[in-house]
Amino acid sequence: MSLLGVSGLTKRFGGVIANRDVSFAVAPGELVGVIGPNGAGKSTLFDLVTGFQRADAGRVSLDGADVTRLRPDEIAQRGVARTFQKLRPFSDMTVLENVMVGAFLRTAEVAVAREAAHHALASVGLADRADAHARGLSTGQRKRLELARALATRPRLLLLDEVTGGVDQATIPGLVRLVRELHASGLALVVIEHNMRVIMELAQRIVALQLGEVIADAPPSEIVRNPRELQRYMIWAIGASMVALSGLQWLGRRGCFAIGSHNKMEKNDQCPTEKFDGAIDTSSVGIRAEVGIQYFSEILDSSSRQPSPA
Ligand SMILES: Nc1ncnc2c1ncn2[C@@H]1O[C@H](COP(=O)(O)OP(=O)(O)OP(=O)(O)O)[C@@H](O)[C@H]1O
Ligand SMILES: [Mg+2]
Repeated sequence: MSLLGVSGLTKRFGGVIANRDVSFAVAPGELVGVIGPNGAGKSTLFDLVTGFQRADAGRVSLDGADVTRLRPDEIAQRGVARTFQKLRPFSDMTVLENVMVGAFLRTAEVAVAREAAHHALASVGLADRADAHARGLSTGQRKRLELARALATRPRLLLLDEVTGGVDQATIPGLVRLVRELHASGLALVVIEHNMRVIMELAQRIVALQLGEVIADAPPSEIVRNPRELQRYMIWAIGASMVALSGLQWLGRRGCFAIGSHNKMEKNDQCPTEKFDGAIDTSSVGIRAEVGIQYFSEILDSSSRQPSPA
């Protein structure tokens, strides 16, 4: 049975569909990568799985049990931890105290939490910074702190939102090594990552999201060498973006005409298209489809440069 099961997950924010009918599973001990351009819905997916956002439809299960409506602390109790894309340590607390916050999920005793926090800090290579203030850490060290805080909750499944995002090149290999070690220790991981080299090397399976939808779910070698799913998507996206952009122009013209005649708009007045949700939504789909085209065509380009498997 899968450790994490996600089926038909849908989340809307006003006119934006951040996740649309998302389904995938994570087996115990598996390392799954999640890729997709900005705004594809990756962080929202983590928010839905960890209870930080409520799904409009669909189901999240752990070991087959429904956890869709549980609070973040209840989900953490069941062994799911996460890191955040935007780092937010308690900057006035020490590194150790920050990690103790995580440890208190499992114990009410300060001494036990302190011990657990020391252990977590050692496992991410931050033991020597335990007494430093969190605000004094570099970005790479803060990423490690986030990891330690998540590990202190003793998870079975760890969701990492852009573990190498925003750190300098020299820091990336150390973080990648750390993720590998965590995986080797038996932890199941879902890793959002923009660095293609990193994720292709790390992940056993990759889920590609675009416009909130899963457009590919396959091992990295298939995504890179035989990206049929991505190619199908590209054809769709190019069509969609053309339709969306011409739809926008059409809606914009009609919008101007309607508002103009209603408000007695002068001929040279600026067209208030922002009043038209339809036009805005269409333009956002068009722009996001174009971003997707750029993002995924880089993967396709890199795959065409790779030699075919023998
Ligand atoms: N709390 C929110 N309120 C309104 N809209 C939101 C909210 N959270 C996300 N969105 C929208 O949902 C869409 C998906 O956002 P999300 O942050 O999940 O994307 P992402 O794939 O994580 O992008 P990035 O790579 O930039 O982190 C975007 O259009 C975003 O603006
Ligand atoms: Mg994100």
